[in-house]
Amino acid sequence: MYTKKQSIIQMTYKTLLTEYTDGILTVTLNRPKALNALNAQLFTDLRQLFLEDATMLDGLRGVILTGAGGKAFVAGADITEFDGLDAQAAMDLAQRGQDIFFLIERFRVPVIAAVSGYALGGGCELAMACHIRVASERAKFGQPEVNLGLIPGYGGTQRLIQYIGKGRALELLVTADMIDAHKALEWGLVTHVVTHGEEVNAAREILQKIATKAPIAVAKVIETVNAYFDKKQDGFAQEVMKFASMVNTEDFKEGATAFVEKRKAVFTGK
Ligand code: CAA
Repeated sequence: MYTKKQSIIQMTYKTLLTEYTDGILTVTLNRPKALNALNAQLFTDLRQLFLEDATMLDGLRGVILTGAGGKAFVAGADITEFDGLDAQAAMDLAQRGQDIFFLIERFRVPVIAAVSGYALGGGCELAMACHIRVASERAKFGQPEVNLGLIPGYGGTQRLIQYIGKGRALELLVTADMIDAHKALEWGLVTHVVTHGEEVNAAREILQKIATKAPIAVAKVIETVNAYFDKKQDGFAQEVMKFASMVNTEDFKEGATAFVEKRKAVFTGK
């Protein structure tokens, strides 16, 4: 049953389809004729969703991002919108994209990219901003911007290194080569490869498992892992502080008590 707020989320977007079931919000990027390329409207919709609407959903435990049509997750930034870009407009475009991808990376519940088909350029960057990536066996990843006389603008040069290391990242970035799902698994860009069409189900299974864990603890794990990559923060110091903040939660008392009583913990997110 949708609450009023949850049914509004169904109506709002021009480029997204949403479905909210059992605490899991599935978001389908819906521009299949353009292989779900990221145009300005799609960014507006993603910003609205991650900055406002999804934060108001009661009981939200995870988000799945996927692409409509089965052929692509996202084939990149919408190249048709590059016409006539000057340096200032390009700077604004890249900054806006990065800011919205940071919203996803810093979102309080896990966001999983369920990737079927192409995840190229901005599409690979979007998948990398998610916390976990599940790929169909038909997925292909790459940063082909040098083919266009460009470099990535939505964090690709930075996050690709985090997942696959500098040597592999540099090679992919300067050759514009694509890698398939199995290579992406071997290199650590994705954590699961599944039969084509099963990627959303596989993502949902992971989120269902996470939904049995303590919500505040899950949120703090995301914050603390992100702190490692934030040059303004000391991740180890953050870990000490956040660890300490957990002991006052009801969920910590419940988790520890349930262990002693040899029963399953029932967490409330308090
Ligand atoms: N932007 C806009 N439209 C795109 C698109 C994109 N990134 N990628 C695909 N499309 C459109 C195509 O123009 C085509 O539209 P029409 O039917 O109207 O002609 C439709 O989607 C289907 O695409 P193709 O006919 O090209 O399909 P294909 O199977 O032959 O090839 C592909 C698939 C290899 C993904 C190819 O479409 C392709 O190379 N796309 C561009 C990939 C790319 O360069 N991405 C990086 C963009 S730049 C970027 O992302 C920068 C950044 O970091 C900020």
